[in-house]
Amino acid sequence: MHASSTMPEGPGTPSDTVCDVLVVGGGVIGLVTAWRAAQRGLRTVVADPAPGGGAALVAAGMLAAVTELHHGEQRLLALNLASARRYPAFTAELEEASGQDTGYRACGTLAVALDADDRAHLRELHALQQRSGLDSQWLSGRECRRLEPMLAPGVSGGLRVDGDHQTDPRRLAKALLVACERAGVRFHRAEAARITLTGERATGAVLSDGTRVAAGATVLAAGSHSGALAGVPEHVLPPVRPVKGQILRLRVPGPYAPFLSRTVRAVVRGGPVYLVPRENGELVVGATTEELGWDTTVTAGGVYELLRDAHELVPGITELPLVETRAGLRPGSPDNAPLLGPTELPGLLTATGHHRNGILLTPLTGEVMAEVLTTGRLPETALPFSPRRFSNALQELPA
Ligand code: GLY
Repeated sequence: MHASSTMPEGPGTPSDTVCDVLVVGGGVIGLVTAWRAAQRGLRTVVADPAPGGGAALVAAGMLAAVTELHHGEQRLLALNLASARRYPAFTAELEEASGQDTGYRACGTLAVALDADDRAHLRELHALQQRSGLDSQWLSGRECRRLEPMLAPGVSGGLRVDGDHQTDPRRLAKALLVACERAGVRFHRAEAARITLTGERATGAVLSDGTRVAAGATVLAAGSHSGALAGVPEHVLPPVRPVKGQILRLRVPGPYAPFLSRTVRAVVRGGPVYLVPRENGELVVGATTEELGWDTTVTAGGVYELLRDAHELVPGITELPLVETRAGLRPGSPDNAPLLGPTELPGLLTATGHHRNGILLTPLTGEVMAEVLTTGRLPETALPFSPRRFSNALQELPA
């Protein structure tokens, strides 16, 4: 593997860096792209003031391809399943490369219903899962409580999905950071201020500290901020918007007598709520979905609704210490699917727009981006997710 070269510095000027790949954004998607690119021998730089941060610091880490299935998202389902299948081997490789535990648990998920509306919703989801050839099993309320005794007596049925697992996004981000460092990725702790254009080609970026990074390929992987990099032509900017999620962390007191043994989720009053139990005693309760721009305020209403809905499912949670409340921004895209690969601007690629599936899609995103960066070809699985699908749609609009 090559090390990235640094040009001589003038007095008081930040150094200029030359590399094969500049990744703009050091969240899990940027880090996995950088790690996989470096593994393939590409000199890789990540620009981010705080790499290892971003939405992963907030996310619950559900790997919920089957329980988060939605009508009209069959192609996304195929991508999600392909990434879910990679998780065990990906985790093993990452843990080996970084020496860090990522908290991956093949624990399964139980989606439950309280009232007749919830049951109808779950029946509909079950039918969709069956039509899609997915593995899920309908349980009575009693069978649900036999699996998870802390569930409320009012739980009247549920779907058991043993294939939907979880990982710990904070530990995942930390492991990716270490794996990147060990693979020779260089970090510039600054924001990308604007992209550099040479003729009709992206050739790197100028960072907020004045550093100029010259790159053969620039990957925009800045999560919800990906739609705003200065210098990128308007029609090439990814149509990504922030979608706020508020989330809570509770603690099950040690020595972690099983409170919940798997992820429990439901749709209560039309809104999804989930409880994700970690082996270390953390219990994550999420998440709101709010279209409020860049707002990341934790509100009394958001916390109230999450606790109210979670309490209806698992009344015992009110006994647990509430240790953290937080809000983050999902990178939403017009079709809820990611934008992976080359844009209309030569030299500029995107790995963004993962919306609700960033953690789930981390393994596949790394693989896809490394493949396209080294061969120039987007793998078959990722073809429907090219960022060009949106610029093409614009071109087809009547004048
Ligand atoms: N995938 C869970 C969420 O976005 O809240």
